[in-house]
Amino acid sequence: MSNDPMNSSVENAPSSVLSCVDLSKSYTEGAGKLDVLSGINLELVRGEMVAVIGSSGSGKSTLLNLLGGLDAPSEGSVAVAGVALKGLSEKQLCQLRNKNMGFIYQFHHLLPEFTAVENVVMPLMIQGLKPKDAKAKAIALLERVGLGARLTHKPSALSGGERQRVAIARALVGEPALVLADEPTGNLDERTAQSVQDLMVELNESLGITFLIVTHDGDFSSRCQRQLVLHEGRLASL
Ligand SMILES: Nc1ncnc2c1ncn2[C@@H]1O[C@H](COP(=O)(O)OP(=O)(O)O)[C@@H](O)[C@H]1O
Ligand SMILES: [Mg+2]
Repeated sequence: MSNDPMNSSVENAPSSVLSCVDLSKSYTEGAGKLDVLSGINLELVRGEMVAVIGSSGSGKSTLLNLLGGLDAPSEGSVAVAGVALKGLSEKQLCQLRNKNMGFIYQFHHLLPEFTAVENVVMPLMIQGLKPKDAKAKAIALLERVGLGARLTHKPSALSGGERQRVAIARALVGEPALVLADEPTGNLDERTAQSVQDLMVELNESLGITFLIVTHDGDFSSRCQRQLVLHEGRLASL
């Protein structure tokens, strides 16, 4: 397995897109210790769409943060597209994230000063694409998510569902092997949530992107190929 973060992409990714072994996370709280995750093992292969469910405070966001390399585990290891996160420099980790991973959150986290296209172009500029090519790609994806008529709108001029579509486009534009989504439709009304879910399912099916999705929505989780439950620090299949 290559440990070069630049030498892995959707095309040549091994079938294991994400794996973690014996992953644990504890937070120190004053004199005490809070064990949030205890020995999590997980393997996702290319094209899978997997739901993670669990009660509030069960550690779902903590798990996603560890899998995305946004936080370090207390114990255990994570590999994304065959690359072990442990031991990577912050720069290598950023490169790996930029090239192989997309993130979608409950709140869109778009940059307010920038238009929809500019927000979506950003990851491609970081990848070093020529501005013209990056813009063409961003526009094509925004059209695909139904926002062809909203390209130059800033987030404040978009509806909640439209903002979340821009956020999805931004997460997918670099054609990552893996998308981690933390309650991506938790902040949307039922109808808008449904259309955003349809979009994610369609993009999973047509592009083969692997999704790991934290959701409280039973309909959405049942549309995923696997449902995992996080309870008392452990992950079990439903
Ligand atoms: N940075 C932190 N420091 C201390 N405790 C934390 C931190 N982040 C999360 N926790 C605690 O870890 C537990 C799991 O949190 P979280 O992963 O956000 O759960 P979920 O996303 O399932 O609601 C909660 O009890 C929370 O209070
Ligand atoms: Mg959470």
